[in-house]
Amino acid sequence: MKKTVTLIPGDGIGPEVASAVREILAATGVQIDWEEIPARADFERRGLDFIQAGVLDSVRRNRVALKGPMATAIAGGPPSINVALRKNLELFANVRPVKNLEGVRSVFKDVDIVLIRENTEDLYAGLEHTVVPGVVESLKIITEKASNRIARFAFEYARKYSRKKIHAIHKANIMKLSDGLFLTTVRKVAPEYKEIEYRELIIDNACMQMVMNPHQFDMLLLTNLYGDIMSDLAAGLVGGLGVVPSANVGEGMALFEAVHGTAPDIAGKGIANPTALLMSAIMMLRYMDEEEAVKRAEAALVSVYREGRTLTPDVGGKATTAEFTQAIIRTMEKPAQAGA
Ligand code: NAI
Repeated sequence: MKKTVTLIPGDGIGPEVASAVREILAATGVQIDWEEIPARADFERRGLDFIQAGVLDSVRRNRVALKGPMATAIAGGPPSINVALRKNLELFANVRPVKNLEGVRSVFKDVDIVLIRENTEDLYAGLEHTVVPGVVESLKIITEKASNRIARFAFEYARKYSRKKIHAIHKANIMKLSDGLFLTTVRKVAPEYKEIEYRELIIDNACMQMVMNPHQFDMLLLTNLYGDIMSDLAAGLVGGLGVVPSANVGEGMALFEAVHGTAPDIAGKGIANPTALLMSAIMMLRYMDEEEAVKRAEAALVSVYREGRTLTPDVGGKATTAEFTQAIIRTMEKPAQAGA
């Protein structure tokens, strides 16, 4: 049955990688009607009116969305559209699987970690104000409700995908109330999942452990800001942001997006790497129970990287976005041996 999916191509390289992914998904045979929401170019001014202009309704109606990167003004300007979308749609869990892709140069091999980041509160609540000139206050919001929801999500995920161990990451030795509440809430949930080993680590130590020996980790459970930082750190272990997907999941609704930004330095040059958005789209197909399409796209991606002849410049190749896209499609079209 044909499903309708919201597509937000985004800014910069967003439309280039989104169009490549559309072509690849069409070649898997999956039946998708894309409801496309073009971004407005004047991101300095578009603010919340962009998300009100049909985007929220579209995602609520379709329950599934694929999103390219969107530019955000730094130190001023309207709030991040990316953050606003997650908040308005209550996409409370950010899921980021970090895994090596053969053929991509990386510091470590055999890394396989899933990071689960709370997506709606913490310092990302964006509650800041100037107390007096020269003094700014930024509020870190942690609630029992959101901590309980993300903890349950993480343990359920571990159960569903047969993961063995979860580390909760915190700084409750200093932020005794806020991180303390997060931690005590997770501690109440953990014993309900006896088959999953539960551990805790302070964030600074966790960062050091990740770069020294990432293989000790299976799943990490984090509040919003620590999750943001540690998930980029984790991506760095397997070759960078260009090869890491992500999902923002809510109740019966999910938005999938590449982790990288709009890459203004290469936008329009036809050399953007669609891999991260493609991997996010593969997560989306899995969420939609399109297992056949998942297998075809995944096998073709692995095969093209393993072969290493048609890769984009960011991963050491010379191919254009179009050449890489066609290589994936051709591999998929080879009958039985595709991805072998
Ligand atoms: P960026 O990820 O756009 O670029 C960092 C470097 O990685 C650049 O050299 C770029 O060319 C390269 N790169 C990124 N994606 C690539 C791809 N698919 N293929 C090949 N090379 C790639 O990060 P930057 O420059 O910090 O941010 C630019 C804009 O993107 C900002 O406005 C930022 O707010 C926004 N952004 C949006 C995100 C989202 O929509 N989820 C996430 C991160 C940043």
